[in-house]
Amino acid sequence: MNPHSLAYSKEVATAYARITTEELPADVFIQDFLKQHGKNAHILDFGCGDGRLFSLFTKYGATRITGIDPSSAMIAHAHELNRTSDSVTAEVQTAATLPYGDATFDCIVSNFALHYVKDTGATLKELYRVLKPGGTLVAVFGDAQFTDRHDALRDTPLPLIFKNEMQVMTLAKDAERVREEAQSAGFTIEAFHRLPQVVSIATVPATHVERENVTIGIARIVARKA
Ligand SMILES: C[S@@+](CC[C@H](N)C(=O)[O-])C[C@H]1O[C@@H](n2cnc3c(N)ncnc32)[C@H](O)[C@@H]1O
Repeated sequence: MNPHSLAYSKEVATAYARITTEELPADVFIQDFLKQHGKNAHILDFGCGDGRLFSLFTKYGATRITGIDPSSAMIAHAHELNRTSDSVTAEVQTAATLPYGDATFDCIVSNFALHYVKDTGATLKELYRVLKPGGTLVAVFGDAQFTDRHDALRDTPLPLIFKNEMQVMTLAKDAERVREEAQSAGFTIEAFHRLPQVVSIATVPATHVERENVTIGIARIVARKA
């Protein structure tokens, strides 16, 4: 395992599967997207984890689902939990270059994964390549808003605690930057929201936020390939 990877370990994967369900309040952002774009779609779930969202995609009419995650433990859970089938695959992908042809997917969903990705710019370029023209990407991710004084914290590791049960390291991603990277990759931004963290999927320790004066929230970007 690459020591710099933020892919979930076996221990974290087991805890994640225990404390999450197939629908969480925070999934409302993805549901809104699926109502518009899910029907008859081939969806790529980037950072799919244990395939927790696959049933939601099916509920909104997706016909084919490809889930990818760098954590072999999370992908193993997707199989053990019977979340895969002939039309639903889950595979370990670590490379910045995805093994899919240009214009393969109708939609790309990435839920709470981009804040683990070091080079979001390169990743967004690759996601743009595999998306069909007219296709849409939705990315929901942890958003760290900085004062200029704390600019040096960008993309640095940040502890994230889920329901007081497990801790993982994520990166302090600035959603504004990610939005610019999506535009540089070729996407047209259809929606960009920085949301206060009203949705309780996870919490960042208050002490960290106070000490570093970084505001943590959730961002949602909806972006289209022309
Ligand atoms: C909070 S979980 C979200 C899983 C799933 N999308 C969901 O909504 O339940 C974050 C996932 O991001 C994955 N991850 C870590 N580094 C990543 C990377 N560089 N690219 C894509 N996913 C990554 C982790 O292994 C983990 O499965």
